[in-house]
Amino acid sequence: MNEHREVNVFDKDRSEINLSDSEHSLYLRPKETACLLTDLLWVELELSRMAFGWLPAVKEFETKVQLGRYGYLHNQHAKLLYERLGELPGSLNEKQGSPSITREVVERISLAPSEAAFFAGYTYAVRKLFEEYELLEERLDPILDAPTADKLRYILVDRNEMLKWLPQQVQFAATEDPVLAREITAWRNYAKAVWTNLIESLNSGNHYSPVWPQHLTGQAIGPVPMNSAWNEERFPLYKWNPAYKQSYSDPSLSPLQDSVKQMHYINATEMGAAESLCYLYYAVSEMKLEFYFDTARHLWDEVRHCEMGVRRLLQMGYKTEAFKFFKGSPGKGLKDLTQEWFPNLYAGLTMVAEPCSFIKKRKSAEHFWQFNDALSAIHCEFDMVDERMHVEFGKKWGPELYKQINDIITATEMSERARIRRIEELGEAVSLEEAKKIAKNFPGFCGLSTIELKYNQY
Ligand SMILES: [Fe+2]
Ligand SMILES: [Fe+2]
Repeated sequence: MNEHREVNVFDKDRSEINLSDSEHSLYLRPKETACLLTDLLWVELELSRMAFGWLPAVKEFETKVQLGRYGYLHNQHAKLLYERLGELPGSLNEKQGSPSITREVVERISLAPSEAAFFAGYTYAVRKLFEEYELLEERLDPILDAPTADKLRYILVDRNEMLKWLPQQVQFAATEDPVLAREITAWRNYAKAVWTNLIESLNSGNHYSPVWPQHLTGQAIGPVPMNSAWNEERFPLYKWNPAYKQSYSDPSLSPLQDSVKQMHYINATEMGAAESLCYLYYAVSEMKLEFYFDTARHLWDEVRHCEMGVRRLLQMGYKTEAFKFFKGSPGKGLKDLTQEWFPNLYAGLTMVAEPCSFIKKRKSAEHFWQFNDALSAIHCEFDMVDERMHVEFGKKWGPELYKQINDIITATEMSERARIRRIEELGEAVSLEEAKKIAKNFPGFCGLSTIELKYNQY
């Protein structure tokens, strides 16, 4: 037990410990560094929520991929700070979540009327955040607080990458559109005024009453829209056909249905899974930070799987226009979703879709090796590495998510329930007893849930 931990960093008077404060004290005590890192951690976490929340709201595939990456990077920064905070005095009170001012500031900047306006606000926030890191870096004692300086060094590596790509999303967005150009300028100014409240508030402890600038008119198109934005010309959407309940069984989905290369198509559809996880990440609160660290990794992995699938299809000479894809948005606003939607979604993904896909990936890898397609085989091998981890995440966090809705359940029960739900969707059992019997035989269950590939055909 660390005797310093009885002091909660939130409990003390914050007026002595300020971000951006170069005048007050020349030297930072350990508890003061902890306080500043805590502020930065919550800003990073809220920015990861913003980036993931906007992934479904942007139209282009490449933009979605990049927001998946940035959501993950913000989350990784939070994780680095968290590691250091574990060594410093004070406790984080992590289940309480972000301070309300931090959450409100980032949420206000998030509610943008267009993609370009969103990126203008996001760029501003990221630039200001890195300025805070740099100011803190200057204040740290290079010997006494070298472990903190090292964490900041890792974080600051991402500065150039992020601040190169983000402004490019705005730079030419309004070249032919003066109305949009005015909107971007107005939104950037709005974001500046909102951000000022964050700095003022963090600098003055709990004694600050924020004065919010007037919210600009115009409907926010993100984050977490009811229906995700999508470029249907490049990635045509599948229209649900009840005749094909088994996953990937409709022949109109893909010209590769008779080939082991169908595995790449299946990977290419995983933006749907990534989008679903965005809603989960955005909406779920009061979980330990480790849940957000794991879920950000999970989410980014699904983005990578999609990216690698699309890349391989293009390398092989196929066009994405020849396939059908799925969105992951729920078709409802967050407030209209039932409480069970989130844990059910997560259990379905981690207890049904992911473990069942594992069998397919292993067989595909074996056959790709036989066909001397090393790159495709290695795709499947890396995919399996990630999937194994996702199933572990599912066992760890699924029961915790159910606990939030007062449904106390073990990982095994959750897994069985998710399989039974799937059997019911498929209409494969006449009674609950029969469904339970089918659910017990895992390979048999997966055979019903999702179609086998034609492994012997290249
Ligand atoms: Fe995946
Ligand atoms: Fe996965």
